[in-house]
Amino acid sequence: MVKTGTLQEAMLHQARTHELLEQAKSCAYAYADTVFDRRVFPSDEAIRALDVLDEPLPETPGDPAQILTLLHECGSPATVAQTGGRYFGFVNGSSLPAALAAKWLSDVWDQNAALFVISPVTARLETVCEKWLVDLLNLPAGTAAGFVSGTSTATLCGLAAGRNELLKRMGWDVNAKGLFGAPELRVVVSAQAHATVFKALALLGLGRERVETVPVDGQGRMMPGGLPALDDRCLVIAQAGNVHSGAFDPFEEIGGRARSAGSWVHIDGAFGLWAAASRTRKALMDGSGLADSWSVDAHKTLNVPYDCGIIFCRDRGALVAAMQASGSYIHFSDKRDGMLYTPEMSRRARVVELWAALKSLGREGVGELVDRLCGHAGRFAGRLREEGFRILNDVVFNQALAACDTPELTKGTLDNIQRSGECWCGGSVWNGEPVIRISVCSWATTPADVERSVSAFVQARGKAASAAENSGS
Ligand SMILES: Cc1ncc(COP(=O)(O)O)c(C=O)c1O
Repeated sequence: MVKTGTLQEAMLHQARTHELLEQAKSCAYAYADTVFDRRVFPSDEAIRALDVLDEPLPETPGDPAQILTLLHECGSPATVAQTGGRYFGFVNGSSLPAALAAKWLSDVWDQNAALFVISPVTARLETVCEKWLVDLLNLPAGTAAGFVSGTSTATLCGLAAGRNELLKRMGWDVNAKGLFGAPELRVVVSAQAHATVFKALALLGLGRERVETVPVDGQGRMMPGGLPALDDRCLVIAQAGNVHSGAFDPFEEIGGRARSAGSWVHIDGAFGLWAAASRTRKALMDGSGLADSWSVDAHKTLNVPYDCGIIFCRDRGALVAAMQASGSYIHFSDKRDGMLYTPEMSRRARVVELWAALKSLGREGVGELVDRLCGHAGRFAGRLREEGFRILNDVVFNQALAACDTPELTKGTLDNIQRSGECWCGGSVWNGEPVIRISVCSWATTPADVERSVSAFVQARGKAASAAENSGS
């Protein structure tokens, strides 16, 4: 309860004294000091302790210092230590020190990235990052970038631009008329397209099920021989980085055929698009420049803090037309107005930390980061093989799929790994078999982290095997 003066007076006092920011800083330091050594997944006890948050909405104002203490004491232990070196779940990146620090500063700025007139600094950083990224990722000159929350949204934007542009070429203005009575488009996807591609198709009125599916090879790559005859009504969706195997579709063949047919190609490159910045992996991206739009996450491989994704579109006008909004009070400028490139109007200035990441790493540093993550994935897989695990994919990027001798043992081992707190991996099913998915995505991972995690795998398997023996199975 705030005891003296009005609520506003109390807040002005808090803002002027920096007391709360100082307190937040010490909590953050305490967290950062332990994140490399603590349990990777919180203990059951830490998760149970979250019950204290489950209270009725307070009727009266509370003391921010106590609120911050509660958040730290109860929230910090229940976080997943994904900024450390032994989190290999999903494809979640850590946060680079320079990017995190820039984010802190920009949190204090609290800028709205909608328009130049709302935030000149954000507009300029978006212009700079668009130029840098088009160069770094070897995209066609003049490609436009929109800064969104992640690849789900970026893919939505790319497919919206493609849908609208294909229909426009057929004389149909989908912005004005919607899809009612529109010429039919065709959607061509890989049999292993990511779940978020189907979500975008559903949101765009193109349907999850009304797709033509291209079969994949044993690594999850689209087989170009399985592409249907393409034409100028086709949206073709390819993938740079299969979420399981890390494999890349053959862009040269897909892009070549799609271009001559007048189709629109979108590449979902959530984590894999960064291969273009690596000297050792860039061949995986050969032919990707033939596409029309690309989606990528900076919060994955680049290790920009959450959330940060980018839509790239070769035809700036097509992206802007798909994202259009106007109103008498919206003042567009002759500079960059970020909302022209994204679905949202108000948006946080996530480009700040993206800019800091790119400036702190430079071209060489981004390439080295990508190579390091991929190198660790290869080392992890190699060591697991030595320890008798099976590795089910060709480790071409940062993903490895491990399995034990039997599906039951794989499941038991994964369960024990996740409980161990030593490292954390997710599970999935690959070609009908349960697997342990390893995604190396943190700048902080060291060879020692890989070795410690391999030991955790071996121990977890031993425990699962003994439990199976004891239960007589
Ligand atoms: C290939 C691929 N596409 C799309 C996504 C979705 O990205 P986001 O969660 O940033 O929206 C992911 C996430 O892992 C992915 O791996």
